[in-house]
Amino acid sequence: MNNLSVKITADGSYTIFNKELNEHYHSIHGAKQEANHVFIKNGLHYFTENYNVKTLNLLEVGFGTGLNCWLTINHLIKTKKNIKLNYFGVDPKPIDIKMIKKLNHQDQNEIYSLIHESDWNKTIKITPNISLVKTPKNIQNFQHSNHFEIIYFDAFGPRVEEKLWDKDVLKLMYNFLGENGILVTYCAKGQVRRDLIEIGFKVERLPGPPGKREMLRAIK
Ligand SMILES: C[S@@+](CC[C@H](N)C(=O)[O-])C[C@H]1O[C@@H](n2cnc3c(N)ncnc32)[C@H](O)[C@@H]1O
Repeated sequence: MNNLSVKITADGSYTIFNKELNEHYHSIHGAKQEANHVFIKNGLHYFTENYNVKTLNLLEVGFGTGLNCWLTINHLIKTKKNIKLNYFGVDPKPIDIKMIKKLNHQDQNEIYSLIHESDWNKTIKITPNISLVKTPKNIQNFQHSNHFEIIYFDAFGPRVEEKLWDKDVLKLMYNFLGENGILVTYCAKGQVRRDLIEIGFKVERLPGPPGKREMLRAIK
């Protein structure tokens, strides 16, 4: 964990830099901006506006600093959507709470603390309608009996975690989703898009967040 340091990004929000991998956890053009664009606007908001769901099972691959989780829960509370959310975050390398505390997100709230101070491998009630399970595993070893409506595919990119973008892992994501389920990712690599299509997804190329031309949304 000594390889990790906190960095401020262009929108004033914070990320972590992993020196060993030479990789940031978020876009340096704006961590929050990127998370809001890729996962909240084009994932969560898109899905809840287009499908009338009462319960949302959401899987995040690469829980990292928990930013996507926090923004997701804040969004559902702010928009007063009467949706039950079961959030599953998977990450083989949970970040130490001391490092998390160095992320100076200025609007940190009670929910932020609950997300981070809760144990891994346990179901945590964040609100009566929202639960969180954090699992310290590789996604390749994760098992789940129900289908997911949304997958946030937010692992490190193909340069760092090449195997995670292989067709067999993407196929695993396909099998995790229910009919009409969606996968969103900041990655717009041609090979990833072609593999998603071959697996059976309908894939949309959407404008990316600042600093990135495109992102992908794949629909089962
Ligand atoms: C880009 S960061 C995630 C940022 C995170 N979503 C956030 O909001 O802070 C990538 C994460 O993927 C995790 N990761 C690496 N290999 C993984 C795997 N096989 N399965 C799941 N997560 C993995 C890393 O440990 C790292 O925390």
